Amino acid sequence: MNWGFVDRYAKSLIKEAGHKIRVSFFNQIHIDSKADANDLVTNIDRDIEQFFIKRIQTDFPDHKIIGEEGFGDKVETMEGVVWILDPIDGTMNFIHQQRNFAISLGIYLDGVGMLGYIYDVVRDDFYHAKKDEGAYYNDERLPQLEKVAVNNAVIGVNARWVAPNRYIDHEKMIGLVLECRGTRSYGSAAIEIAYVASGRLDAYISMRLSPWDIAGGMVIANEVGAITTNLNGEPSHLLGQDSFIVARPRLHGDILKNYIRLIK
Ligand code: IPD
Ligand code: CA
Ligand code: CA
Repeated sequence: MNWGFVDRYAKSLIKEAGHKIRVSFFNQIHIDSKADANDLVTNIDRDIEQFFIKRIQTDFPDHKIIGEEGFGDKVETMEGVVWILDPIDGTMNFIHQQRNFAISLGIYLDGVGMLGYIYDVVRDDFYHAKKDEGAYYNDERLPQLEKVAVNNAVIGVNARWVAPNRYIDHEKMIGLVLECRGTRSYGSAAIEIAYVASGRLDAYISMRLSPWDIAGGMVIANEVGAITTNLNGEPSHLLGQDSFIVARPRLHGDILKNYIRLIK
């Protein structure tokens, strides 16, 4: 596999998709809901996913594609080359704010992340990484992440996880919120992972994410030494939903040990 070629191809596809999304701001968008009233999708999410899938299927017919909106393949194993795409991560932000959303793409070989991309379309901020060759923010190489302690950490976490919920003991999470330096919530898992990789956040935690939310970001984050696991401390898998944490070294262990108690 010529990964340099795949990398250049993926970057140009993402930039073209970003342009299409920016153009869509001038047109009427159609909003539907999926699993519940706040689980939103638009015609743009679907159009962008189809744009990627048609191109990838034509140019890489032996690769498989997992896409959030369901236009890709039914993928049951990570064998071979698998592209994992979220055409718009942060759809609620896309609809309500027209910012703070991203295209997220990861390309895996036999389950190993080879290439990762997160494109914050409105800011024109492009994060990418190639396995063992470093991670980049636009054309700047991102440095390896240093350790940080909880009291110096800014943590990405959604406020819903400090309210009673069925996944974790929220009292422990309140402890984390009170003891860390500050919390932030951006409403796009991909952007939050990119922010950890680029040092703008020190950790990001979610109780339930899908493969397309994390596939691109994991390649980028791992390349700068961030640790990515589920909240049991196990490696994240890419064939179903799971909890997720990405954090700087040391902070990852401290959060799991002292602040996360899973229910059940
Ligand atoms: C969502 C965003 C959000 C996260 C949700 C995801 P979507 O993705 O990443 O930040 O909290 O769990 O589903 O639906 O906008 O692609
Ligand atoms: Ca998503
Ligand atoms: Ca999405």
